[in-house]
Amino acid sequence: MENLHVLNHPLLQHKLSILRDKNTGVKDFREIVAEIATLMCYEATRDLPLMDVEIETPVAKARVKVLAGKKLALVPILRAGLGMVDGIITLIPSAKVGHIGLYRDPDTLEPVEYYCKMPADISERDIIILDPMLATGGSASAAIQFLKNYECKSIKLMNIIAAPEGIRRIQTDHPDVDIFCAAVDDHLNEHGYIVPGLGDAGDRIFGTK
Ligand code: PRP
Ligand code: URA
Repeated sequence: MENLHVLNHPLLQHKLSILRDKNTGVKDFREIVAEIATLMCYEATRDLPLMDVEIETPVAKARVKVLAGKKLALVPILRAGLGMVDGIITLIPSAKVGHIGLYRDPDTLEPVEYYCKMPADISERDIIILDPMLATGGSASAAIQFLKNYECKSIKLMNIIAAPEGIRRIQTDHPDVDIFCAAVDDHLNEHGYIVPGLGDAGDRIFGTK
């Protein structure tokens, strides 16, 4: 499955195990979501183009590599995706951030859109959609389609935990989108929760329930 990237670095796996633990409190949960996003960003941006520039070190002139200045945008899916933004901004401080508000109807599990604000030049940017959880894939698929309707061409999806059902949905609906996750879990339960998962990511990040 070429467009699925499971990032299983030991640091990621360790931090993810802390997130999964139901005894992890809101402060640690929030901090670790951000740390995981930073580590995942490192891998998800591996293909960023570089260019040569000439500089002077204290010793000599040198041709060195710098980022070619490709424009990036982060698009967190509200609410839970917000928890991943700061971790990525740490590494890419110039990234713009668009927001898309979707919640899952608890009965139908279908995504319902309630907010959207994108940078004006979103169609020219390489986009990373952020959401800790890929369950049925309905929310992520809708967010991707939404961005494609804006003529966005380069879209990656970053999730902390993905369910096989969600991965299949994205691969069917959007085979051009690369998925980055730290774990592929077993299945969805009858309420559409990822098993074993970590529970409701939004509630655990924001301390709601
Ligand atoms: C969660 C999660 C995803 C969605 C995943 O959000 O953050 O956006 O569910 O489920 P899906 O793949 O089946 O669409 P939720 O609807 O609970 O909203 P919240 O972030 O506001 O809590
Ligand atoms: N959304 C969550 O926050 N957790 C799940 O397990 C599934 C959807």
